[in-house]
Amino acid sequence: MDKPAASKVINMERIREIVMECGGHKWALIPVIQKIQNEFGYIPPEAIHVIAIGLKIFPSQVQGVISFYAQFYTKPRGRQVITVCRGTACHVRGGESLLEMLENGLGIKEGETTADMEYSLETVACIGVCALAPNVVIGKEVYGKMDTQKIEQLLKKGEA
Ligand code: FES
Repeated sequence: MDKPAASKVINMERIREIVMECGGHKWALIPVIQKIQNEFGYIPPEAIHVIAIGLKIFPSQVQGVISFYAQFYTKPRGRQVITVCRGTACHVRGGESLLEMLENGLGIKEGETTADMEYSLETVACIGVCALAPNVVIGKEVYGKMDTQKIEQLLKKGEA
């Protein structure tokens, strides 16, 4: 997936095209939602009606699928998504302090995006590399054995 295009103006015509490109059938609901998210970085609320009309289903069905899957976002996300692992192994090795430090440093809480749309801060239950705990994911890159100093350096270097 490309970087989230949070600042992109929502082009409703493009959303209609995506619905049609995916065949305009109700079984295409998930591919349509995925494609819209890939292009716009999230699913704009105004897209729900367009998807529903195009696929001949109820808007509540579209909303239901978007709400069910954690990987679908209904709000714009920052260009950089920082994810702190909240799993047990990461938690006992300082994951909570990393989250706190990031919240203070970025001036946002978990689940929020900075006003300049640069960073979104998220958490995850476990990313499956517990041996490297505590872990932080920045974009697609996993940073293991993290501590507050390393995070500070990454933020200063602009890697996060
Ligand atoms: S608990 Fe963090 S990677 Fe498993």
